[in-house]
Amino acid sequence: DLADIGVTGLATMGRNLARNLARHGYAVAVHNRSYARTQQLMQEYGGEGTFVPSEEMATFVASLKRPRRAIIMVKAGAGTDAVINELADLMEPGDMIVDGGNAHFDDTRRREAALRERGIHFVGTGISGGEEGALLGPSIMPGGSKESWEALGPILQDIAAKVDGVPCSVHVGPDGAGHFVKMVHNGIEYSDMQLIAESYDLLRQALGATPAELAEIFREWNRGDLDSYLIEITAEVLEQVDAETGKPFVDVVVDQAEQKGTGRWTVQSALDLGVPVTGIAEAVFARALSGHPEQRAAAASLQGPYVSGDGARELVDDVRQALYASKIVAYAQGFDQMAAASKEYGWDIELGAMATIWRGGCIIRAKFLDRIRSAYDANPELPTLLADPTFADVLNSAQEAWRRVVTTAVRIGVPTPGFSSALAYYDGLRRDRLPAALVQGLRDFFGAHTYQRVDKEGAFHTDWSGDRTERPA
Ligand code: 6PG
Repeated sequence: DLADIGVTGLATMGRNLARNLARHGYAVAVHNRSYARTQQLMQEYGGEGTFVPSEEMATFVASLKRPRRAIIMVKAGAGTDAVINELADLMEPGDMIVDGGNAHFDDTRRREAALRERGIHFVGTGISGGEEGALLGPSIMPGGSKESWEALGPILQDIAAKVDGVPCSVHVGPDGAGHFVKMVHNGIEYSDMQLIAESYDLLRQALGATPAELAEIFREWNRGDLDSYLIEITAEVLEQVDAETGKPFVDVVVDQAEQKGTGRWTVQSALDLGVPVTGIAEAVFARALSGHPEQRAAAASLQGPYVSGDGARELVDDVRQALYASKIVAYAQGFDQMAAASKEYGWDIELGAMATIWRGGCIIRAKFLDRIRSAYDANPELPTLLADPTFADVLNSAQEAWRRVVTTAVRIGVPTPGFSSALAYYDGLRRDRLPAALVQGLRDFFGAHTYQRVDKEGAFHTDWSGDRTERPA
């Protein structure tokens, strides 16, 4: 019997996705470069549903119902092109190749265009939720043609996470839209984690609190507005004790944060699109700073304030509010980036729907995303999430606490680039007049770059090196 869908690449994510499909009653063709993995899957989980194993790619493709649907689950990179080509050579017009890895959206655009020439649908899809999500229900963000969504959508929605019965998967948009949205998801994930890390660091330094005490604080926060997967697991990581030394787990881990690249890509793309994603950028740079031990050692003797650890407990609730406010800023920036890309690439991404599919299954899943969805429901043309009345209320009432947090951090010498830059963004956006006017003046002075006036139309230049009169440019 022919399989409904296939998965090639059976490392943890691929294996769990194949099992998820099988558990939902689909006959799943499975293939892996080394057959041992396929055999292992059959041995350990073969009983969970109908699997059709193949040793060769050709038999794998031949074991699929037409139009064929094959999901590639390999580590993103050059290897993906090889697998795509191998599959495409065995396929026919109308067939569908799905790339479920964290590919760069530019690669997805290129691959989609090349396969479209050959009549094959290429679907670059974001899949979030790690190992557990892949098995129990991830958030799935597919790009590609409408036809491919018609053939794949019901299956993807079937295996995706559900929140209030609503599947965490929609058709994001054409070609690279799915991978773009997954990239921004990851950028926001970086930013979320950075803000959590700053909250932990500041409270630990300022209050002299232990990781176990801080775990309790995060657990408490998880019962309120901040209710989210990342806050929940922060409590778990902080309360973990190292079996070997008896120390808090967080104290035995090397303090250099790694990255596979999606956060960096988000910032690179934001620079091209001209969208200030300061929260994500600070998160990427904070990881980069942590990863330079030689510089850190060389700078270790530089002076700073003495941290007494006897700060006032009021700081705990201030940090909670600063965290929530900064989180709103980070998401506002990420959603702006999706809006800008949607316009630039003609993707027609529905922002509210992105909030919906991130409510479950993915790493940034949170109660908060319902509020974002409501904001876009109320006004699909919302220029910034900060202006949504609900979020504006939160920001207005948090701003004093937010300033106290940044002030405290500066005073005791704890770096909080996430909190500080989010506050600067907030203050920048709400200002009636920005010093950008002076920047324009300087540009005109040294480079005759011209400027516009507040009181009349057109571009102007002042003759800075002559009599300093103004003329239309
Ligand atoms: C997910 C995650 C996942 C992973 C990224 C980021 O949605 O399941 O975002 O994709 O966490 O690979 O990893 P780095 O922190 O290593 O860049």
